[in-house]
Amino acid sequence: MSTIATMTADELAHAGLRLSVDGVVATITLDRPAVRNAQVPRLWAGMARILRELGDDVRVVVVRGAGGTFSAGLDLSLLDPAQAEEEGNFIATLASSDQEIIDQIAIYQEPFALLSDPRFITVAVVEGHAIGAGFQLALCCDLRIVADDARFCMKEPALGLVPDLVGTKPLVAAVGYARALEICASARVVSGAEAGEIGLAQVVAPAAELDGALAAMVEALTAHPHGAVSATKALLQDAPARSLDDQRLAERTAQVKRFRALAGR
Ligand code: CAA
Repeated sequence: MSTIATMTADELAHAGLRLSVDGVVATITLDRPAVRNAQVPRLWAGMARILRELGDDVRVVVVRGAGGTFSAGLDLSLLDPAQAEEEGNFIATLASSDQEIIDQIAIYQEPFALLSDPRFITVAVVEGHAIGAGFQLALCCDLRIVADDARFCMKEPALGLVPDLVGTKPLVAAVGYARALEICASARVVSGAEAGEIGLAQVVAPAAELDGALAAMVEALTAHPHGAVSATKALLQDAPARSLDDQRLAERTAQVKRFRALAGR
């Protein structure tokens, strides 16, 4: 498959996204800076389409926000009853059955889940705010490069909601159950510096140095054979859910594929 996604420039702009592909690195930029990159269903649909259409030669997918902030989360107009007829308005969906709403949220969750595809490694570059759906988007990436003054906040409980965009599992994996609960239940701000200390961020740097840190990370992530890195990502992802014996079997099975790939048979 080609590395060039099929979305037109107009479709990308309508979704509030920018896409660039440079060699084996694709960069998806949330591009609604006037509303601090707030997220709407058409943005999620666009992101899902990009991630599905990226070619097999893409090794790293970078997710970042335009205008010095990552994302202010859900576009709050979607919770405004006065705009109930607008695309994806959550109040309007309440006329549907529970199952229909559950099915709709499953569609919204797709791009968040696709970020864990073992074909590539996903890296969130976070500066400014990562609130609610923005925090979850960063969590769904494999790795986070974070400005020391970035501000994460899981705002959903403060709004009477739960985080439902695939962020709860990676949050628990990153910081453990107790810290995850404390962060979510209090809806407090976690600084970039703290994110580094508690294992939420893999790299913390001043905002001006994020691009340099990203370049170094990309170089390291792409230095070794793609097939070995993808298969290792898959092994590590599935390890927590497997018994030791099942994980040993998965390692052996994956290694046979690597042997054959290396030997060309
Ligand atoms: N939705 C829609 N518009 C938003 C927005 C959002 N989430 N966040 C910011 N904006 C808009 C503001 O209304 C403002 O618009 P105008 O210029 O027309 O007034 C513009 O973006 C700039 O915002 P600020 O002036 O507030 O910018 P700031 O830099 O001073 O503050 C901010 C930035 C801290 C992100 C602040 O805007 C803010 O707190 N935004 C709301 C964050 C929020 O509550 N998000 C929802 C979280 S819950 C979720 O995401 C998941 C879920 O499922 C519910």
